[in-house]
Order: sequence, then C-alpha cells, then structure tokens
Amino acid sequence: MIIAPSLLASKYDRFGQEVARAERARADWLHVDIMDGHFVPNLSFGPGVVKRLRSRTRLRLDVHLMCLRPEILLEPFQQAGADHLTVHLELGERVGGLLWKIRSLGLKVGLAINPPTDVRNVLPFLDQIDLLNVMTVNPGFGGQAFIHEMLPKIQQAAAWRREKQLAYRIEVDGGINFDTAVECARAGADTFVSGTCLFGSRQMTRAVATMRRLAAKAAKGGAGGRGSRA
Ligand code: DX5
Ligand code: ZN
Repeated sequence: MIIAPSLLASKYDRFGQEVARAERARADWLHVDIMDGHFVPNLSFGPGVVKRLRSRTRLRLDVHLMCLRPEILLEPFQQAGADHLTVHLELGERVGGLLWKIRSLGLKVGLAINPPTDVRNVLPFLDQIDLLNVMTVNPGFGGQAFIHEMLPKIQQAAAWRREKQLAYRIEVDGGINFDTAVECARAGADTFVSGTCLFGSRQMTRAVATMRRLAAKAAKGGAGGRGSRA
C-alpha cells in the first residue's frame, strides 16, 4: 500500500517543514496538485515549488496536473524533479500524445479520471500507464466529501488489471480518510492520496501507519485484494 499525503492540505508558509514532516511520518510519496485556474477553478503550485521540494526530500513526488495545457508543463516539471506526472483523461484526443511524452521524459505515467467521466474511456490507455488516478471528488479543492459512487469504478479498474495482467497502480484521490481508505482498498485501490486527514493530523506518523494498516487489511478481504500489491 502506498500512502501519499497531499501538499494541498499542508501549511503554505512552511513547505520545507511540511515535506519533512511527511517524510518523518514514513509516507511513501508526496502528492502535489497543480491547478491552473482553467481546468479547475483554483490555482496552486508551479515548477518552482516542486524544485524546492525536490531539494528537501527523497520522497517520490507524485505530480497531478489539473491543467488545460499540460503540454507546456511536462518538461518544466521534469526539470524540477517530479517522479510521476499525471494528466487528465478529459483532455480527449491529446491524452495519447501526453502519455507518450511523459514516458519519453523518463517519468512514471499517470492518468486521472474525473467523477462524471465514464470509466470505459480509460480502456485504450491501460497498457500505457503506471498509475490510474480515480478521482473520488470533483477536482479543484481539498477537504471535500468522498463520492461513494466511485467505488464501482475502482472495482472495474482492478478487474481490468487482473484480466489484462497489467500492473498499473490504482490511486484514489479526494476525501480519503481511514473509513474511505478501507472502502477503496476493498474495491481494489492500492495507492491513497490524502490531504486533510493526514496533514491535518497532529500525529502524522500514527495517521500514516493506521491508514496503511487498515487499507492492507481491507485489501486482503476485499474483492480487488487478489491482484493488489503491497
Ligand atoms: C483535489 C486534489 C486532491 C486533494 C485531496 O482536487 O486532486 O489531491 O489534495 O485533498 P483531501 O484529501 O483533503 O480531499
Ligand atoms: Zn490530486
């Protein structure tokens, strides 16, 4: 199980200390939400912030581009030290080229799908990705409530992974706390982005360990458990 605290819920006057806190808490990755004010109605960070984070941490930087024109951002984020770049399925016919470009930059390839989008639209891309981000809130803001109707999408993504013998991670993003992490793990998720619950916790080490333990236990008993990884 991968636990990825989301920087969006950290204290913005001290990114260095916050990323150190996540690392000390034994998080696996740091999730970094990039919002452009067009694809989503909010703004967040740019490559400059990622570059500073890179100099402060060995955590993998899982960069989620909620951006209308990721074409102009892939190289700057690679240069800044991102490890993964995720683009959105909703960009339509540009998706294939974007995934190829991320791969050619030597980075892990992520694809995200918004709540209203039909999960079958990911099918043409499944053999090209390392990570499928199933959004469990509408993107743009932290602290929103988990959308339970996304659980069948996770189950479907896990079923395709088994059937096609692929190895992409199934990441859930939005409204993930201890309860919803368990539901997602049962459905087949193995990678948990969590902002408010983890950065908002006074004891982040305990929170990260608890989420990892509960998710692992749920995966063993869940429908998606057989194919999921540690
Ligand atoms: C939402 C972002 C999420 C966000 C999750 O647009 O993609 O990564 O940080 O935050 P919480 O865990 O607070 O819902
Ligand atoms: Zn995100």
